[in-house]
Amino acid sequence: MPHLLHLDSSADLTGSRSRAITAAFAKAWADRGADHTITYRDLHTDPLPRLSATALHWAPRLRAEGETAPAEDEARQRMVLDELLAADVLLVGAPMYNYSLPSTLKTWVDHVHVPGVTTTLDDTPSQPLAGRPAVVVTSAGGSYAEGSPTAGWDHLTPVLRIILGDALGMTVTVVATELTLAPRIPDLAPQVPHSEALFAAALDRATALGATL
Ligand SMILES: Cc1cc2nc3c(=O)[nH]c(=O)nc-3n(C[C@H](O)[C@H](O)[C@H](O)COP(=O)(O)O)c2cc1C
Repeated sequence: MPHLLHLDSSADLTGSRSRAITAAFAKAWADRGADHTITYRDLHTDPLPRLSATALHWAPRLRAEGETAPAEDEARQRMVLDELLAADVLLVGAPMYNYSLPSTLKTWVDHVHVPGVTTTLDDTPSQPLAGRPAVVVTSAGGSYAEGSPTAGWDHLTPVLRIILGDALGMTVTVVATELTLAPRIPDLAPQVPHSEALFAAALDRATALGATL
């Protein structure tokens, strides 16, 4: 049974573009039939607590002498890892906050990027998610396109590509929408049509990916 793990992290529960785009992907996935199952986790409304101890960053065999974590935090991390490991496809809604990740999504990353468990550090191959698709839906208020004055300021997309792609070995596809603040910021008003076109294109792309991945 193909299984999707769908994560959202926008703090906007009414007008979020990343939530709308991940929902379009999830609808297309579900429309493929009852065998296409979904686990949904809203990292904003049901946030994970931050990591309580450095031990949680390491497989037990890689921990330093005396490096431990509370049993309830080990159990929570195991649950979050099992949820990811059970997924054939990962879908992540990732709004840009302060040029980076929302803290809620960063905390999820902290739980699942575990050397020796989800990424290889020593002689034991430890990349169980290698080759699985990860679709990252980014949504930014400004523009970070090549040639724009803020090109290079996007510290959201590169981190997710490095963690999910390079570290965990997943095959990452980014569905990006930007200039989402054009209707709100007077200086960006001329960009409203472009912003809406980017949003529409991202919705179409997410629908196509959800129907085929
Ligand atoms: C706390 C916060 C920080 C933000 N920081 C940035 C930023 O650094 N750069 C930017 O382009 N937009 C920024 N924005 C705007 C969001 O990226 C924009 O509203 C985007 O559409 C959020 O995704 P969503 O529509 O899925 O909620 C910020 C918004 C919030 C709420």
